[in-house]
Amino acid sequence: MAASKKLFVKTFGCQMNVYDSQRIGEVLAPHGYQPTAAIEDADMVILNTCHIREKAAEKVYSDLGRIRQIKARRHAEGKTTVVAVAGCVAQAEGGEITRRAPVVDVVVGPQSYHLLGDLVRQAEAGIRHLVETGFPAASKFQRLPARAPARQPSQFVTVQEGCDKFCTFCVVPYTRGSEYSRPVADIEAEVRALTRDGVLEITLIGQNVNAYAGLGPDGEHWSLARLLAALANIDGIERLRYTTSHPSDMTEELIAAHAGLAKLMPYLHLPFQAGSDRILAAMNRRHTTAQYLSVIRRLRAARPDIALSTDIIVGFPGETEADFAATLALTEEVGFAQAYSFKYSPRPGTPASLASDQVPEAKKTARLERLQRLLSRQQTAFNMACVGRLMPVLFERAGRRSGQIIGRSAYLQAVHVQGGVEHVGQQLDVEILAAGPNSLTGSIRDPRLAA
Ligand code: 5AD
Ligand code: SF4
Repeated sequence: MAASKKLFVKTFGCQMNVYDSQRIGEVLAPHGYQPTAAIEDADMVILNTCHIREKAAEKVYSDLGRIRQIKARRHAEGKTTVVAVAGCVAQAEGGEITRRAPVVDVVVGPQSYHLLGDLVRQAEAGIRHLVETGFPAASKFQRLPARAPARQPSQFVTVQEGCDKFCTFCVVPYTRGSEYSRPVADIEAEVRALTRDGVLEITLIGQNVNAYAGLGPDGEHWSLARLLAALANIDGIERLRYTTSHPSDMTEELIAAHAGLAKLMPYLHLPFQAGSDRILAAMNRRHTTAQYLSVIRRLRAARPDIALSTDIIVGFPGETEADFAATLALTEEVGFAQAYSFKYSPRPGTPASLASDQVPEAKKTARLERLQRLLSRQQTAFNMACVGRLMPVLFERAGRRSGQIIGRSAYLQAVHVQGGVEHVGQQLDVEILAAGPNSLTGSIRDPRLAA
């Protein structure tokens, strides 16, 4: 079919949505849709949404308001526009979306986007307000088309989806469903195909990636550590990462992989959410502060230079000043290279949203500011400590300034250098000359280039 139609996809939220948006594009390509960056030109607009915090969900509705105007303008010019809402807001709100925003033609949950081809055909035929929010993930992965050629040397691969942990603040177990792990052979095939496009780095993603338990070719359920070891054997793969992990699934085997697998990058995102055991229990986190610290100690013993990143929530219901002080203390004790911190936001349908002891907004704001000051000090210190070092950097893209290219260090820092675009896709040694809070600057010093 001729690629005559234009598709605009806007992605909210996590890396899994980034991966899903890419796959959605691949599902729609055979239906004649090619990507565009200009929403006004799009015959189809998809919002791939996030429901994790209230702000993310509200943004979707304000975007839909703007899209309604664009659709009306295009209609006046005799053009049709199919509007779809995908992702976790779609899953959580279903048909409610088309009632609140009638401009929406299609609502499709994260486990159903392989059906988008059919849904779009119906929408193009004038059938409106289609809602598809079925489970499970297994049939989706089986029915997705092959991935389009990768254009960047670092790619995500979803290996696990869903969550059975039920932290009391979190919507993920409701929007992404129960845990599902893709079979080893499917993941290996996807990774091998990516290496043929020149991909050097793979980040395995899953809501609870270290609970991975996919079926192996030997009929056994493989752990994430075993999967990583198998992927490290694939020619062309130079860097492996995985995210997001839960502290209680950090097994000895996985910790040992950080010592034994050279291709596994010295970086781990390990959310702790709160530093008070009382709050952790109320969050149903299934770990204590001491257990978290023990994981960190063992990780550092396995890989002394490992850089750590985390997620932290302030103002969970019932959080006192002393509880918050414990969060600051834990942050201080671990020392993070990077972190994401959030004010608690009550999510409909979650147990914590019903708690009567909600923390006032002003308190949450003040606590978040204090925490973020500490985190930003830690991040800057971590970056400053890299100045003067020689580090391998995988170059991912051209920078905004001419003659500048941008890559990532093993510790996931953005590194800016002066260099030609021919280096994009290569991993080269860089001397770090300066550091800021969010990035490093350096100069390529790779002996391979002198030859
Ligand atoms: N309020 C605030 N932050 C939340 N997160 C998840 N749910 C909520 C919520 N209701 C944060 C957690 C999680 C990250 C992805 O988002 O820190 O790890
Ligand atoms: Fe949400 Fe907790 Fe599952 Fe993470 S582990 S996705 S925070 S329920």
